[in-house]
Amino acid sequence: MKKDYKGIIFDLDGVICYTDQYHYKAWKMLADKLGIPFDEQINNRLRGVSRMESLEIILEKSEKAYTEEEKVEMAEEKNANYRELLAQMSPKDLSSEVKETLDLLHGTKLLAIGSSSKNTAFILERIGLAGYFDAVADGNDITRSKPDPEVFLIAARRLNLKPQECLVVEDAKAGVDAAVAGGFDCAAVGDAAGYGAATYSLKSVCDLKELA
Ligand code: BG6
Ligand code: MG
Repeated sequence: MKKDYKGIIFDLDGVICYTDQYHYKAWKMLADKLGIPFDEQINNRLRGVSRMESLEIILEKSEKAYTEEEKVEMAEEKNANYRELLAQMSPKDLSSEVKETLDLLHGTKLLAIGSSSKNTAFILERIGLAGYFDAVADGNDITRSKPDPEVFLIAARRLNLKPQECLVVEDAKAGVDAAVAGGFDCAAVGDAAGYGAATYSLKSVCDLKELA
């Protein structure tokens, strides 16, 4: 990996912590109530995608058409269930490997979060990282979600850095595409590892220690 990045912008869900199962449970509750089939495979398509776009993907299997108002209500219901699950998270849900890597990088790089989630502040607080990052850009700051680069461009601007000076770390293909579209190098982990569009493919977030 190139060593001279001045900043590192991390996606949150699936990179810093693992909320996949909570998203799955909360969407499943809603889908079951509506009688719509929903499984882990469909859940995988929701990675990196905004809440309302996620709902549209779930409703692809619905025989009924819903109004915008009904959709907003559904998304709110899912989010209430999701936040109840998130409330059970604690600093124990931040792995020691991820924490060690962040602490090591903190000395030499500026660190930011670039997440589609509107629950970013709540999640960071639950896992003990409130106030930890030099900048946070999230679902509340943007009008276009990944694969649009907006969230990463805002994060870079808040770090006072150019995209070319930052590395983005992502677990979603939509997130890798967003980073590349914004002119960032991108390190892919998890589900996106091996995705050809990424600059680097990592076995885990710990591989970033070599940048410190
Ligand atoms: C992303 C997740 O980080 O946030 C997506 O990968 C999710 O699955 C999106 O849909 C929006 O999350 P929230 O918390 O605003 O509903
Ligand atoms: Mg993610």
